[in-house]
Amino acid sequence: MAHYQGTHRPSHHLTRRSFFTAGAAGLAATSLSACSGTSGTDTSAPPCPDLTRPTSLDDAAWAHVRAQFILEPGTAYMNNASLGMPPASVAEAVAAGYDALSREPLKGKTALGRAIAGRVVPGLASLFGAEPAEIVLTRNATEALHMGAVGVRLQPGDEVLMTTQEHPAGSRPWDYRATHHGVKVSKVFIPSPFETGEEVVRLVEEALTPATRVIAFCHVTRGGHLYPVRQLCALARERGIVSHVDGAQAVGMFPVDLHDLGCDTYSASLHKWLLGPMGTGVFYVRADARDRVESAFAFDATPEAPAYQPPGTTGLPVQAALSASLDFVETVGIDNIAARTRHLSDYLKARLAEMPGATILSGPTPATSCPGSTIFELEGVDAVEAVTLIAERAGIHIDEHQRDGHNAIRISTHVYNTTAEIDRVTEALDGLRSIPS
Ligand SMILES: Cc1ncc(COP(=O)(O)O)c(C=O)c1O
Repeated sequence: MAHYQGTHRPSHHLTRRSFFTAGAAGLAATSLSACSGTSGTDTSAPPCPDLTRPTSLDDAAWAHVRAQFILEPGTAYMNNASLGMPPASVAEAVAAGYDALSREPLKGKTALGRAIAGRVVPGLASLFGAEPAEIVLTRNATEALHMGAVGVRLQPGDEVLMTTQEHPAGSRPWDYRATHHGVKVSKVFIPSPFETGEEVVRLVEEALTPATRVIAFCHVTRGGHLYPVRQLCALARERGIVSHVDGAQAVGMFPVDLHDLGCDTYSASLHKWLLGPMGTGVFYVRADARDRVESAFAFDATPEAPAYQPPGTTGLPVQAALSASLDFVETVGIDNIAARTRHLSDYLKARLAEMPGATILSGPTPATSCPGSTIFELEGVDAVEAVTLIAERAGIHIDEHQRDGHNAIRISTHVYNTTAEIDRVTEALDGLRSIPS
């Protein structure tokens, strides 16, 4: 039996069969029927085009990237910020992992464990500018954010400062600590959109008190606002405060270097922009912050053996399949992914700017808005209703953003989207306004 390969290879070569065929030749010979980018069940489909790094930002240069996805024809997916749409290679890798477990449970488990330790964790560490020992796999960002929050040593009366733009996944763990441990939770109002990162740093700094022990904030908010993370972490460090960052909407969308950002903890989803399988997230604690952020689980943990890992049996096949997501991101290039998602959201913003009654609520510059998510309001359109209507009438998946005082629509554009799909969604949205309710 071929064992699970822990090395980098083109993503679309990992299939169920790859576990049980001999060596690299067997791996290279397998192809995905779904690679035609159509139904995924058509065995006569042409072989998947090789995944290579695109050389320009145009749709044509990304057609072979789009072909790695098996979305139903006619459907447009622009809600990656909620739930990522993994390429076929990732779906195949999950299936391959379960196949291995079902055929030979103990060998399969060992092989998956090796792939996670030998490829996934080092690959994530390298992508995120961290050491492998600082990377812990979780089920999602919410779990990681909770682990970070309950791990910080706090006394009753100690204060945690968060922003008004935190996702419930980021705020609820601190509410838990307020209820059970007498911690005081304060919120600093951040406007949506904000004009500059300096404005955010100033607002946070003004909200600090002598009792502040933690600052909790997003790298990118649910609405796509990009925070000045490095500056906020520097401010926290100057004051001896723990910086606790929610990166659910950041990793996989643009380069993230955790050591450079200087945060104490960082929590992220891997199923969103990194295109990993559902049930994957990451928790990072900077090595020299281990004395301040303890394990949420192990009573006998030490900074040398911090034991952050959630205990018990875990989803090895989904975690191991992250190797296919990493292959995808490494082959296409994270800088290229950022440029393409930005290119598409710029195109969307240009189309919205032509629409009467449209107000773009994303930050005004690339320094304040992330590449992939755009929020906007449309006069006369209820955002929640629009999401359902656009799905039903046009087969396009978008989302609403009913936060920060907005009745906004959120469109998230990943590398697989096209300008034609953006034309389609803006036309469909425009059409909503002419329909009497
Ligand atoms: C900013 C932010 N934080 C956290 C989460 C929660 O992520 P997960 O579903 O991976 O727990 C989300 C999900 O949309 C999010 O947008």
